[in-house]
Amino acid sequence: MAVSPAAYAAPAQIPAGPIHYGADYNPEQWDPAVWREDIDLMRRAGVTMVSIGIWSWARIEPRPGQFDFSRFDEVLGLLNEAGIAVDLATPTAAPPAWFYRQHPEARLIEADGTIRQGGSRGICCPHSPAYAEAAARITEAIAAHVKDHPAIAMWHVHNEYGAPGGDCHCEVSQQAFRAWLRHRYGTLAALNTAWGTDFWGQLYGSWEEIGTPRHSGTALNPLCELDYARFTSDSLLARFTAERDIIRRYDAASPITTNLMATNCPANDYWRWAEQMDVVSTDYYLEAADPDAHIWLAMESDLTRSLAGGKPWVLMEHSVSAVSWQPHNWAKLPGEERRNALAHVARGADAILAFQWRQSRRGAEKFHSAMVPHAGTDTRVFREVCELGAQLQDLAELRDSVVNARVALLWDWNSFWAQDLAWRPSVLMRHRDQLRTVYRWLWERGTVVDLVHPESNLDAYDVVIAPASYLLSEAAGNNLAAFVHRGGRFAALPFFAVVDDDECVHAGGAPGPMREVLGLTVAEIRPVRQGDTVTLTPVQPQAGVVHTAMPTTLGSSRYLTAHTWSEDLRLEGAEAVWTAVDGPTPGPVVTMNRYGKGVAVYVSMLMDRDVLAEILEPLLDPPSDRPEVDGGIPAPKLEAVTRHGANTNFVILINHDDVDHRVDVAGTDLLTRETADSFTVSAGGVRVVRTVRTNGD
Ligand code: GAL
Repeated sequence: MAVSPAAYAAPAQIPAGPIHYGADYNPEQWDPAVWREDIDLMRRAGVTMVSIGIWSWARIEPRPGQFDFSRFDEVLGLLNEAGIAVDLATPTAAPPAWFYRQHPEARLIEADGTIRQGGSRGICCPHSPAYAEAAARITEAIAAHVKDHPAIAMWHVHNEYGAPGGDCHCEVSQQAFRAWLRHRYGTLAALNTAWGTDFWGQLYGSWEEIGTPRHSGTALNPLCELDYARFTSDSLLARFTAERDIIRRYDAASPITTNLMATNCPANDYWRWAEQMDVVSTDYYLEAADPDAHIWLAMESDLTRSLAGGKPWVLMEHSVSAVSWQPHNWAKLPGEERRNALAHVARGADAILAFQWRQSRRGAEKFHSAMVPHAGTDTRVFREVCELGAQLQDLAELRDSVVNARVALLWDWNSFWAQDLAWRPSVLMRHRDQLRTVYRWLWERGTVVDLVHPESNLDAYDVVIAPASYLLSEAAGNNLAAFVHRGGRFAALPFFAVVDDDECVHAGGAPGPMREVLGLTVAEIRPVRQGDTVTLTPVQPQAGVVHTAMPTTLGSSRYLTAHTWSEDLRLEGAEAVWTAVDGPTPGPVVTMNRYGKGVAVYVSMLMDRDVLAEILEPLLDPPSDRPEVDGGIPAPKLEAVTRHGANTNFVILINHDDVDHRVDVAGTDLLTRETADSFTVSAGGVRVVRTVRTNGD
């Protein structure tokens, strides 16, 4: 049972216009003379929208309750005259120094008792009444001041809730946690049962005895930790909705968002957050040194689109070149920023904004790239910024077109939080690695995926894969069973459906509510010695009913290898399709079970991407979303995504390879206006081909 915020009806969408282009704009750092040059350069670069005000609290409210909007008004006026839309932030991610001085009790206390001081940025205690009051006051002052201002097109509440974390352990937070638990469990007896407090004699006799999970002798109560993660997400979400509701009283029309961090925010359950936002926006920074960085970018985009329910979304921040907070900050190569930006567009973004407009000369982020670099406009960065701005204007007709995926990956923060708790069978079983292994295989085969909550409607999908669903509720099990029963193809990776929503092992063991669907029970988890590999061999399929479009068997090679983790499977209807011939658990490793009109596959060991790809490949029919390339030769680095418009489709082709590729897609490239039956996508190049829609597309 979750404590749900009130239902919220999202009233607005991304502001009308082209694919928006812009950045965080921080004029507070500059003299007014620079602002005028900024506006000229923004026009030159094709900027259509900027986020302002994010770090402006101390300027707007220099003393408690005293407001000064003079500089702010001037900036708003300049942007309005230039026709640049404003995404106006509330500045509550950086309370002024006077606030910390006046309210030392509002400082966040970490699990080990460390007090987080001011002098940097980030929310203080999210439960602090003083912070709530001050945040409401500045939000209301701004909303009232700009009411009906024609420049305001969107609202940007706070900045990256949860970064750095919002998990506070002060006395007020302890009380808030208890109140949240009372709401969730109703009675102390229910809490004691759910938390299993008879283990290690943790039984609670009164609510006041319960504390947030701090440092203790050894492993903490796991459901206490999981509930605390849920509570923290809800607490931060409550801060967002409080500001949103104040803004809504003054502005009935403009969409309100807050910038999420897609997969990179461990603090928040964004499925619950997205329901409370008019428009979903996210920030994404490349893992620049990773040669697969563009694949992880795609995963973030797919997750963001999925959070937005398939609707277009906003890339609120990214870097046009290097960041300054990774250990060794690679600058982007020529053309890389264009590929990155258009990859976000391909996967549903209707706005591309950067951090930040003008590179700072002072402060912590002066080495972070920006649209206008320290060295000015005669730079590679600024030239590419202008080229991209012009190209985004050429893509205006993509606005509001959507991506249709037929394959879904299960994604649930509750499961990730739970899987990451202490004392699991192996620290080498990492949910992020499992997700990445599966995602990378699908990206390289050209299959576009959605990421879905396990309890969500799965009607749109042919195939559902659970790369890392350690926690699976009874309701999710029923949902997946219904999906398979009506003809869906389902695959789960190991350590699947082990616990329920209360972090309690399913009665009878894993895979709990999916035992009948998968046709097996996990009798024992048996990790493989680190560094060892286990040999797998295929089993000949048994005779049986073969359903149309269902694989008769999986994989074809003689021998494959797996590693790290194994499970002793007790088959209860499933057929073994791959077995281990050595290692700690000789016997079935990959199984297949026909259930209703569908099929459910279980993979009980960890495997490298190529092995997993070979084993699961037969599940994936239809083939990839990539058109034919080079007459049918595999092109795993040619990204191809289709956005579906009302009457036309747009095939976005991004070549991450260092050789050219010829792609069979007929239409008009919106970037060059060439019309052809097929296009060469040069090494590192991009094409956006408007195709004529045929029936069924
Ligand atoms: C984000 C943050 C921005 C800026 C950026 C680049 O996390 O929201 O304000 O700091 O990172 O480092």
